[in-house]
Amino acid sequence: MTDDVLVGLMSGTSADGISAAAVRFGAANALPRAKLLAYHEVEYSIAQRERLLRALDGASLANLARLDFELGSWLGDAALAVIAAAGLVPRDVRAIATHGHTIWHDAPRATWQIGQSAVIAERTGIDVVGDFRVRDVAAGGQGAPLVAIADRMLFCADTEWRALQNIGGIANVSVVPPRGMDAPSLAFDTGPGVAIIDGVVRSLVHGLAYDIDGALALRGAAIDAVVDDSLAEPYFAAAPPKSTGRELFDRSYIARIIDRCRAARPGATNEDIVATAVSFTARAIADAYQRFVSAPVRDVIISGGGARNPALVRALSNALAPLPVRVFDDVFFDGDAKEAVAFAFLAKLFFERRAGNLPAATGARGSRVLGKLTPA
Ligand SMILES: Nc1ncnc2c1ncn2[C@@H]1O[C@H](COP(=O)(O)OP(=O)(O)O)[C@@H](O)[C@H]1O
Ligand SMILES: [Mg+2]
Repeated sequence: MTDDVLVGLMSGTSADGISAAAVRFGAANALPRAKLLAYHEVEYSIAQRERLLRALDGASLANLARLDFELGSWLGDAALAVIAAAGLVPRDVRAIATHGHTIWHDAPRATWQIGQSAVIAERTGIDVVGDFRVRDVAAGGQGAPLVAIADRMLFCADTEWRALQNIGGIANVSVVPPRGMDAPSLAFDTGPGVAIIDGVVRSLVHGLAYDIDGALALRGAAIDAVVDDSLAEPYFAAAPPKSTGRELFDRSYIARIIDRCRAARPGATNEDIVATAVSFTARAIADAYQRFVSAPVRDVIISGGGARNPALVRALSNALAPLPVRVFDDVFFDGDAKEAVAFAFLAKLFFERRAGNLPAATGARGSRVLGKLTPA
């Protein structure tokens, strides 16, 4: 591979904002390497976040069509900002890789991301590769997790099996063999990441977007009966390949957890309810390893916003013990940039006409080149 600068853009299910990464890809000893040149985050306003979240329950077609174009302009601006932050100009950039924002995920029937590539190309004058998930779904796959190939090629360990656990709105794991070992990797959505915790916080504390530094959860006591009940959700027992989204872990799911907490412990405080959501989320991840991961994993590398919540990190470390849990930032670079880097890597593979999906991870019928090009 030759040296190439790409920009990756991600808007995750938690709808917190846009993550933009400028990355230089190169190779060392014939193995691909990614160097993060700059990372930039644009937080959504409360109104923007509401529109994105409402897109999946009941927005009109007119609103969706407009949101597609408006999000395209927000994404284009985020790309320009990260290019500037890297000290570059648009012509230094080979392409922008955009994931867009998922408004509907019902694989293997359908998946739909918005954030119009044409608008991004107009605004930046740079080639745009987007719509990565649809080809995998068309080939019978889950269209997720697509970070699996980057996890495997860029972030594997030298001599041991490793689990890379991303904790965004939804959480996903890639279990990857050591560098150079020719064994299939396993990757799937473990279930909720911060979606339930955020949802509980937002409905209990007006105006709070998430439990900053786990402050509420750390003061509460989880209600174990509710955690155990909630783990009976059939998604957790279903075997991979599998993927999920806000269609399942939605507002009514969140309301149900709150109701159960109040029924199980009269006088439950907000702190107790948030602690319950944290415990449930950690246990759901650890249970998935217990059920489905047979490889001799030696460390777990966590990334995504969930890795910034000390209450969740503590609960997860306890649930996974004695496996060591390490934060992605301590091993590679700012973990918030990881997914954006992974999509930039998919665009690089697109230009090389190389497959971006791992059929063992997504369940697709075969390897496929992912993405669609909108020329500058
Ligand atoms: N300082 C923090 N304390 C607690 N939670 C945090 C913190 N920073 C980020 N988060 C969590 O991370 C979430 C965003 O994670 P992110 O990886 O961007 O998710 P997604 O990929 O779904 O957009 C927030 O909604 C919040 O739950
Ligand atoms: Mg995000």
